[in-house]
Amino acid sequence: MELGVCFYPEHWPEMNLLEEFQTMRDMGIQHVRMGEFSWTKLEPTSGCYNFNWLDEAMDAASYCGLKVTLGTPTATPPSWLIQKFPEVLSRDSQGRIRKFGSRRHYCFSNSKYCEESSRILHQIAKRYAFHPALFAWQTDNEYGCHNTVLSYSEAAKEGFQKWLETKYSTIERLNRAWGNIFWSMEFSSFNHIELPNMTVTEANPSHSLDFQRYSSDMVREYNQMQVKILKSYNSEIPIQHNYMGHFTQFDHFDVGQDLDFATWDSYPLGFLEQEPYPEEIKQTYYRTGHPDFAAFHHDLYRAVGRGRFWIMEQQSGPVNWAPVNPIPLQGMIKLWAFEALFHGAEVLSIFRWKQVPFAQEQMHSGLLGVDGKKTKAVEELEEFLRESRQLNISTDAKGPRIALIFDYPSCWIHDLEPKACGFNYFQLIFDFYTVLRELGQNVDIISKEDSFESYQAIFCPALVGINESFIHKVQRSEVKIFAGPRTGSKTKDFRIPHNLGPGVLQDILPMKVSRSESLRHSVKIAVESADFYGHSYREVIETDLDPILSFEDGLGCLFERNSNFYLGSVLNQRGLKEVCRLFLNRTEIETIDLPRGTRTRQLDPYLLMTNYGPEVSLFQPENYARILGNPQLEPGQISVYKKL
Ligand code: GAL
Repeated sequence: MELGVCFYPEHWPEMNLLEEFQTMRDMGIQHVRMGEFSWTKLEPTSGCYNFNWLDEAMDAASYCGLKVTLGTPTATPPSWLIQKFPEVLSRDSQGRIRKFGSRRHYCFSNSKYCEESSRILHQIAKRYAFHPALFAWQTDNEYGCHNTVLSYSEAAKEGFQKWLETKYSTIERLNRAWGNIFWSMEFSSFNHIELPNMTVTEANPSHSLDFQRYSSDMVREYNQMQVKILKSYNSEIPIQHNYMGHFTQFDHFDVGQDLDFATWDSYPLGFLEQEPYPEEIKQTYYRTGHPDFAAFHHDLYRAVGRGRFWIMEQQSGPVNWAPVNPIPLQGMIKLWAFEALFHGAEVLSIFRWKQVPFAQEQMHSGLLGVDGKKTKAVEELEEFLRESRQLNISTDAKGPRIALIFDYPSCWIHDLEPKACGFNYFQLIFDFYTVLRELGQNVDIISKEDSFESYQAIFCPALVGINESFIHKVQRSEVKIFAGPRTGSKTKDFRIPHNLGPGVLQDILPMKVSRSESLRHSVKIAVESADFYGHSYREVIETDLDPILSFEDGLGCLFERNSNFYLGSVLNQRGLKEVCRLFLNRTEIETIDLPRGTRTRQLDPYLLMTNYGPEVSLFQPENYARILGNPQLEPGQISVYKKL
């Protein structure tokens, strides 16, 4: 894994670039990302280009042997462009314009914006596609950041109507698919269809789901337009986009199909504060970040990047944008780097090189302070480089045998119809991931379209919209599945399946979810002879199978057939861990119990141990010899073991 930094030469006109780049090189940095917000500097007024500054930066980078990732500047359309084409601005769900003055103010459906983006892209690609420093392209920056995938503009409405016509061909078909006979919502023409905002009460969920799908497709089309232009100049230069943490407004697996690899932006402490974790979790991990958040996204984006990913932006000190912004615990920069390495990242690029003294992010730290002095993060990165060089990491080390399916359309469906206030698809998947890591497992995150062949066990909670091909894939492989709650409970058109949940899964798990209920926040229903409970949501399951666990009121909770499991409720963390352990042991996968905050990640023949928790960790893996770190793992520290 190589190191990189995000750097903005346009912020530092006085800077001696050669000196600066040489300092980076001396620290062991090999990559630099530039350009992604620089449209006004590249084109100060419409049609007048100025590339001198970027030529200089590219040449200096090349001279110093740095590999450049060049970002296209389309996340920040300039003021002159907005004056000329005000219609490119997006609109929020209340129909209000999202004004110029920060970033990401464009609407993906606007054709004028696509033309303008394409124009600047041609200029940049023509000039730099064969520059010796150019290593990769980045399209735009963080699609959807600041809640910008859905736009309720005129352009979006027209685009949506056309998209629907292509999908359904006739208006009768659309009316049937959405169930528009309900509340007299039938349309007589595609031109009459509005966007699903500002309705009196909730809009038809099928209407909202299609608008979500349309908006996701618009992100994909916009990205495809950029990819096509960049590739047309030099098809050898790989292209990526930097995705975000916990972001589900477009289908990343779709966008990932058009790119060469994936990258993502990892801010563990910022995310901890933003996520709806209980206060106790936030308090425990406030200087380390949640022990599974970065790991989860490394696994997710490795799948999105079809096996290849980088961290494009890595937190290196306090950020400016979370409700509170602490300094990371000493050791965390190194720990995050090791976590990335052991998840297969090719490059870890730090945000940002130097803290900037002006504008929105002046309180965001960098590797260098405003005064140019190195921060603590530099030492830790140097330590990481020194220590990781002692390992002989191979990219074809054996992968894990456990997979967890993450599905964007399922997320949209459950977000539109949570049924229970405590039910959240992302949280549910993340909870499974957490308990599996607590049980010492390596987990792959995969899409439902991926092959199941190499897996022994697959978890697919709340996966909906599945069809027979999913079942065939399960039946053709040796894999055992863990399903529920809610798996198979909806068709892809957002309907209850005619044979009820788990729908097509009934071939594998002969049962019917005849009813379901959601529960008040304070209600906890104990599981018989166990010290855990169900909450938020439960299903009533009709089946000839005997439950292997039941609730105290007699309702079946967990069912099994041929080592395939179905869970009919949301359980507390302890309960989820126990049922996952039961399932893994049934599929002959060994589990261990890691102490709070301790995690392991295997990359044969090595095992990484990390301590995100507040206590010293005394855990010692069996049949391994320690080659890095101490036997007693202090908070924020790592150790590496090698198989005996
Ligand atoms: C990211 C973004 C960067 C910068 C950073 C600050 O979301 O891509 O441009 O704003 O956050 O943490």
